[in-house]
Amino acid sequence: MKALLICALLVNFAKLCNCTSTHDQVLSIPVTTKEQAAIARNISSQNETVLWSPAAPEHIRAGTEVHLFLIVTKCICFRVLLDNTEELIEMQTRNDSSDPRSSASYYERYHSLEEIYFWINEMAQDHPDMVKVLLIGSSFEKNPLYVLKLSGRQERAEKRAMWIDCGIHAREWISPAFCLWFVQYSLNFYNQNSDITEMLDSMDIYVLPVMNPDGYQYTWTTNRMWRKNRSVSQDINCIGTDLNRNFDANWCTVGASPRPCDEIYCGLFPESEPEAAAVANFLRSHKDVVKLYFSIHSYGQMLLFPYACSNEQVPNHAELVELVQEAAMKIKRHYKNNYKYGASAETIYLAPGGSDDWAYNLGILYSFTFELEDRGRYGFLLPPSLISKACNEALLAVKSVAISIPTLQVLNKP
Ligand code: ARG
Ligand code: ZN
Repeated sequence: MKALLICALLVNFAKLCNCTSTHDQVLSIPVTTKEQAAIARNISSQNETVLWSPAAPEHIRAGTEVHLFLIVTKCICFRVLLDNTEELIEMQTRNDSSDPRSSASYYERYHSLEEIYFWINEMAQDHPDMVKVLLIGSSFEKNPLYVLKLSGRQERAEKRAMWIDCGIHAREWISPAFCLWFVQYSLNFYNQNSDITEMLDSMDIYVLPVMNPDGYQYTWTTNRMWRKNRSVSQDINCIGTDLNRNFDANWCTVGASPRPCDEIYCGLFPESEPEAAAVANFLRSHKDVVKLYFSIHSYGQMLLFPYACSNEQVPNHAELVELVQEAAMKIKRHYKNNYKYGASAETIYLAPGGSDDWAYNLGILYSFTFELEDRGRYGFLLPPSLISKACNEALLAVKSVAISIPTLQVLNKP
């Protein structure tokens, strides 16, 4: 039905596209479910529409016949970006646990939350000398938040650390896939690839593969396009907080929403969400060693750094530009792919309450958010066949930044 509703609108737009004279139209939308009501409310709050009936979007419920006036000032053209999304989604969830966790093909598939928990266990068992599993907290629905601590076998007196989190936003499946990819690659190429060896010998690497396990699970079972976590607070009809708006960095100012129904809802107060609080507590208690922070998102192909929460430039802006510019150049050279780079606020949009800004203000002066592939062709529905390229690009960027930061260079000079 949801598909039908969207179809109805597209069909109307299709007519508009071909029209010779522009004319307004009124749509009648029979809303039968809660989900449809939410979609209709959303559509009716757009500028190009006027809600004729009922009087206000809040009144749209299951059972409401919605009349929507479509204002046509210009012909609108569109092309279908994605056809048959059902099939794409089915492809992404197929054979999730059929190949062995050590096989290369395992990393070219997406995996369910349960499968990722099995994988975490197996990594620790198979590499007891290099991997420790830490429990840093649990989600709203009491799913554990496990961090893998990777260490090289070379003990150096002054160990630094780096942090990577994946899966803050539930629907960005390439992100957890990257964390798995990164861990596997690090373990396999330690003492083989010089950058990886260098990284692991000079730093402990903390990897949180799924920061939003409840949301991730929900995208597998119920709604592939879910973004937020699954917490219930003020409004029981609207679930979830955007974890990347819940950190204490200009919390809930322009670019975030105080309304629980919105996709960018900031939560009740900074760190109101157990997932954000767990990460913040861990980083606070390790702030003297953690020098480097990465948060992995999709999509858009961007290498971003603070601030997202203000238009101000950070003191080491020029240095951060250099680091991501270098990384973007390497991606271009090796994979012929363009990544944008820069401070978040000027590169995409104002987004207060983000983890990277918060980490920066805590004193982690090398703090980044990477938006992986693609540019919108598949968006969140990146097919499994494109996982390896997306992950290799991101890996190259992480390595490039990590081996270039001055704290490491000083440390590594004999
Ligand atoms: N696309 C992500 C979001 O909307 C990241 C935007 C930049 N924000 C940030 N804190 N780096 O949350
Ligand atoms: Zn995201």
